[in-house]
Amino acid sequence: MMWLKKVHLIDPSQGISGLRDVLVEDGRIKEITLPAAQTADVTGAGEAEVIDGAGKYLFPGLVDVHTHLREPGFEEKEDIASGSAAAVRGGFTSILAMANTQPVIDHRGLVEFVRNQGLRAGLARVYPVAAVTKGQRGEELAEMWDLKAGGAVALSDDGRPVMNAEIMRLALEYAKLPELIIITHSEDTQLAWEGCVHWGETALKLGLKGIPSSAEAVMVARDVILAAQTGGKIHVAHVSARESVEIIRQAKKRGVDVTAEVNPHHLIFCDADITVHSTSLKVNPPLRSVRDREALLQGIADGTIDLLATDHAPHTWEEKSQPMAEAPFGIQGLETALPAVWQYLVEPGLLTAEKMVELWSTAPARRFQLSGGSLKVGEAADMVLFDPQKKEKITKETLVSKAVNTPFLDQELQGMPVMTWVDGKLRQKDRRIIAS
Ligand code: DOR
Ligand code: ZN
Repeated sequence: MMWLKKVHLIDPSQGISGLRDVLVEDGRIKEITLPAAQTADVTGAGEAEVIDGAGKYLFPGLVDVHTHLREPGFEEKEDIASGSAAAVRGGFTSILAMANTQPVIDHRGLVEFVRNQGLRAGLARVYPVAAVTKGQRGEELAEMWDLKAGGAVALSDDGRPVMNAEIMRLALEYAKLPELIIITHSEDTQLAWEGCVHWGETALKLGLKGIPSSAEAVMVARDVILAAQTGGKIHVAHVSARESVEIIRQAKKRGVDVTAEVNPHHLIFCDADITVHSTSLKVNPPLRSVRDREALLQGIADGTIDLLATDHAPHTWEEKSQPMAEAPFGIQGLETALPAVWQYLVEPGLLTAEKMVELWSTAPARRFQLSGGSLKVGEAADMVLFDPQKKEKITKETLVSKAVNTPFLDQELQGMPVMTWVDGKLRQKDRRIIAS
């Protein structure tokens, strides 16, 4: 039994933002009281361990619907154990692992493998996302019912788009019965061509090939039209362009079953931050203009954008040391995303703490029908204690992810998760992992 005393609880699922005492017993939330209440009032609470939560926040554990854990096949970048350690260190209690591994997660045995490796790691809850098409080749649909039976919680060819519209239409149609959401990587590869940064002034200045916003927007438009036609469910990954925000806004008005995510890096940086050597900012879709960033924030404010997700995309130092045009796309984000969003968006008043928790815990758990996202009495104690004062320098030594491809490397961030519980078990304390 454990009492968290005088903590600022933020739980949008209950409309709570204020000081509370929270009692956890047998891995579940047992009682939530105002801090004035006497501990002794609760039966047996006298023997409870007491944690002083003064000056700290308690959130339901963050749920990240977009991570690349790279296992099987690319374990030099990350594996499921290191990725789930990075997750709990970053305040995430549930993560969805994308299917662009080697082999691609496109049949039941592989889905079960990912799930089992997650259980073996014993840190965050790891939910497999399976591929939409066999081998992510975009030609033939994977066996959705088998994938679902193996534990897939969604389908995505993320990393690549499904370029053939008829295949996407069929996927949306067939995914209705097993009730699987298709997560779209909306990118027209012909329009994106061989670009590596946003098509704009920065691309011109640096002499790099540009990826126009239309490469994303035309595919978002196509995908919401197909979702409307079929009645299927889509979730648009990593929205970066203002045109896409507007298309999603209009689709929602028409009743299309679409949700959308934005990644912290698209809210914090823009293309003007890129220099010819900053491969840590090379990401797909690319960092876009200041106007796009404003449109993403507006989309969050009016509900067009439903959630935040990291798109944790670890790569090796060697890969990211290549010239801009050759380095792979991706930013590793699990350990820095929450502190960065806190420092760059919550502290300056661009996002409230309550809205952040809704976007990163309540909404993703609800959309993907996962446990978590709520600390109501009786719920599993997936939760994170967050210290807004705690500072930490992000270094190769402190990161537990295998990858260090973050734009925050060697930078100090303020606002850190200092305890993370999954199912009531403490998995991170004072920035260190607690293995089972
Ligand atoms: O930047 C990215 N990296 N975007 C993607 O869509 C895929 C990801 C990866 O797998 O590295
Ligand atoms: Zn993607």
